[in-house]
Amino acid sequence: MSAHRLIAWAAVNGRDLPWRHTRDPWAILVSEVMLQQTQVARVVPVWRAFLERFPTAPACAAAPQSDVVTAWRGMGYNRRAVSLHRCAIAVTADHAGRVPDDLDALLALPGIGAYTARAVLAFAYERAVGVLDVNAARVHARLAGAPVDQTTADAAAPSGQAWAWNQAILDLGATICTKRQPRCGDCPLSDDCAWHRAGPDPAPARTRQSKFEGSDRQGRGRLVDALRLGAVSADPADLAEIMGWPGDTKRAQRVALSVVADGLADWADNSLTLCLRQ
Ligand code: ADE
Repeated sequence: MSAHRLIAWAAVNGRDLPWRHTRDPWAILVSEVMLQQTQVARVVPVWRAFLERFPTAPACAAAPQSDVVTAWRGMGYNRRAVSLHRCAIAVTADHAGRVPDDLDALLALPGIGAYTARAVLAFAYERAVGVLDVNAARVHARLAGAPVDQTTADAAAPSGQAWAWNQAILDLGATICTKRQPRCGDCPLSDDCAWHRAGPDPAPARTRQSKFEGSDRQGRGRLVDALRLGAVSADPADLAEIMGWPGDTKRAQRVALSVVADGLADWADNSLTLCLRQ
């Protein structure tokens, strides 16, 4: 992938968001916890007010939990406020009040998972890790033609430019490489993109001769039928079996990815599930 082209695109087309003007790890941590389940436009005012009330982790730790939950108003998913408060207490007790610059130390904090830990490393400390939320995972998966794991995403982050690169991936996922109807014509990476190169799914039957038997559509149908019964392993060999193409793991992965890209299924923890918001 051309990191240079992506970063140049984002310099012009990227979103100007307030947490991109700071490297304060506490402010970044708060933004990322808020952004996990809440839209950007809702987060902006609450994030500003929250940091005025709790400008540092120790300030948050010293407040009663109820104050932190109150300051969370408008965000929803209030358990995140409780968890952020516990995190502030741990940062204050174990790290002298400073959000740590270390993956293992971050992961050991209450409520901090692989995504948030890497977001703090990338966006506060400008470290070369791959920030992999649902949107970034979709961008990576389309580019590579198959889901990428954390190790691959970390390896793809260009050292020295990881801050801009990760923000750019998030911008691309939010504005161009959207779940439904991505705007590939405006994408700076379309030349490198396996999903774009593969083109849209074959057109549905145009002629009477067009065969359903053995078609991608048949495999898609088999996969969706299996998903109706529950989660399905995303292991390529399992997918190929389910789709009726044992051994043809490449084809199975490509077609499974199209099911995900169409918003029919979600891909997480190496399994596929039917998307609930359909
Ligand atoms: N979603 C998660 N992190 C984000 C960030 N830093 N900027 C925009 N959207 C995000």
